[in-house]
Amino acid sequence: MVQIGVVGTGGMGGRHARNLANKTPGAKVVAVMDIDQERARIVAAECGGASVYTDAQAMIADPAVQAVVIAAPDPFHAELVLACLAAGKPVLCEKPLATNMADARKVLDAELAGGRRLVQLGFMREYDQAHQALKELLDRGDIGQPLMFHGLHTGEGGIEPRTVEDVIINSAIHDIHSARWLLNQEVNQVYTQWVKAEATRPETCRLLLVQMVFKDGALGLIEMNADSNYGYQVDVTLTGSQGSARTAPASAPTVKQARKQFQTIDPDWLVRFDAAYIREAQAWVQSLVEKQPTGPTVWDGYVAMVVADACIQSAKTGQPQAVPDLERPAMYAR
Ligand SMILES: NC(=O)c1ccc[n+]([C@@H]2O[C@H](COP(=O)([O-])OP(=O)(O)OC[C@H]3O[C@@H](n4cnc5c(N)ncnc54)[C@H](O)[C@@H]3O)[C@@H](O)[C@H]2O)c1
Repeated sequence: MVQIGVVGTGGMGGRHARNLANKTPGAKVVAVMDIDQERARIVAAECGGASVYTDAQAMIADPAVQAVVIAAPDPFHAELVLACLAAGKPVLCEKPLATNMADARKVLDAELAGGRRLVQLGFMREYDQAHQALKELLDRGDIGQPLMFHGLHTGEGGIEPRTVEDVIINSAIHDIHSARWLLNQEVNQVYTQWVKAEATRPETCRLLLVQMVFKDGALGLIEMNADSNYGYQVDVTLTGSQGSARTAPASAPTVKQARKQFQTIDPDWLVRFDAAYIREAQAWVQSLVEKQPTGPTVWDGYVAMVVADACIQSAKTGQPQAVPDLERPAMYAR
């Protein structure tokens, strides 16, 4: 039984904890930590009575905790992963790896120095069946050579409009990883444009558009509508030299009623990727049992951050931005 501790028991961390405790053979949630102690207590009870911590570092150091899930807010990821690496404990860390390049590099260097893969990144689309079907089809050569990735990603806005930087680092980072993973190619250049959420605040972002050029010549387009007013949607179309393919639409039935035809759209990621989160947790635990790391790596988290950083630079300058050439360390060989 792998004994797991969870840092951050909000929407995502609570879901991971429950999936691990109730839907993942071989896993037991033994500890949780959240600065909101009431929330932590509720999740601990749902997981069959895990210990509740007030201090994440103390939870990570607890010998009863063999592996850690990090689902605290983005700015805490890097320091928490570093603590897990220092303790030699495997970790499933939510995206993004960090919120700036320096911290992302620190985590990469720390894992490389340890000489073994301990971290899996929470790019859960790799566990979504619609995405997997697309990947298999492309890898089999069914649509020929990839010419273009087009990712549509929509959300419903919060109270405050989001900044361009946050939309890139917190949301579009999923699409950046998705494009790299599906095409199996690295990004060479990006160009960022956006529509402001508030006319008088140029830093706010309602709709983000990132154009990409890949090293092998394919093109990419990420369209992230931060406040769609219609729901949460992730939809990928790949164009190849021999055809094109698109992720299967949501599984909701098509309803005809009162001279209308409609299909319900998911409210958020927890509904859309419900099954993917379970498969991600199960695959992670299996990889720990088999001592064979799988899934998205620190390298993926780092490269996604490098591309995201180039997107931010492009947003600042209004010009296309080259993405630095990176050499993949042997530890992350595919
Ligand atoms: N992979 C995905 O699909 C996906 C989806 C949503 C969120 N996320 C990521 O998961 C993380 C959590 O997002 P969320 O939607 O659950 O947010 P949330 O606000 O619902 O939950 C965050 C929780 O962290 C707690 N917290 C705040 N500071 C903390 C600290 N210093 N130490 C420990 N806990 C702390 C909060 O009290 C809250 O309970 C974020 O990094 C987010 O980017 C990933």
